[in-house]
Amino acid sequence: MVGFKASCMNSMIWVFFSLILVNWVSGNSEGDALFALRKSLKDPDNVLESWDPNLVSPCTWFHITCNSDNHVTRVDLGNSNLSGNLVPDLGKLENLQYLELYKNNIQGTIPAELGNLKSLISLDLYNNNISGNIPAELGNLKSLVFLRLNNNQLTGHIPRELAKISSLKVVDVSNNHLCGTIPTSGPFEHIPLENFENNARLEGPELVGLASYDTNCV
Ligand SMILES: *[C@@H]1O[C@H](CO)[C@@H](O)[C@H](O)[C@H]1NC(C)=O
Ligand SMILES: *[C@@H]1O[C@H](CO)[C@@H](O)[C@H](O)[C@H]1NC(C)=O
Repeated sequence: MVGFKASCMNSMIWVFFSLILVNWVSGNSEGDALFALRKSLKDPDNVLESWDPNLVSPCTWFHITCNSDNHVTRVDLGNSNLSGNLVPDLGKLENLQYLELYKNNIQGTIPAELGNLKSLISLDLYNNNISGNIPAELGNLKSLVFLRLNNNQLTGHIPRELAKISSLKVVDVSNNHLCGTIPTSGPFEHIPLENFENNARLEGPELVGLASYDTNCV
């Protein structure tokens, strides 16, 4: 009987501590997402040194800004000598407004999961070494104002989904390897042509009914 009580007590204690552990790990999912980014990047200047996943939240880390509810609203890592890849985990930062990663040497592709960032105002990935397509999922960013992807190695066409973002004011995709035609509808009506230049196979602006938007893309 005593033995039974003791083992019962033991398992209750075990359950109690597991719950604390689960809470502690999952309570910091934004920190986990950012730490996944840290692990995926090379950081010779140690700008990410303060990104310690054992802290309760990432809000005290350098280059991170949070709102009053302790949700991450800004990642400011422009011009930081970073290389390596972006991670899909970034799509979990639901309150993120500014993703500033310009002027580094980031490689790999733009994760489609960035299309989950409902609050995003600014996606600045210019002056890196990013390849692959511009994900059509970025058309889900209904708060986006600034989309600067210039000076990378991007290929494929400009997804027409972007033309449905009514908040979009600044688009720059110059100096890539994009193909197809330049969109002219919606916010693209006011984007200057120089923001599309130096894409050898990009034609335009698109004349409705004349050329297919993915002309030159095969
Ligand atoms: C960037 O990192 C490299 C090492 O990968 C280093 O040699 C170089 O000095 C750094 N540049 C700056 C501007 O910090
Ligand atoms: C850019 O990325 C490619 C791989 O996609 C790599 O071969 C090349 O060395 C990178 N350029 C620089 C300047 O790091």
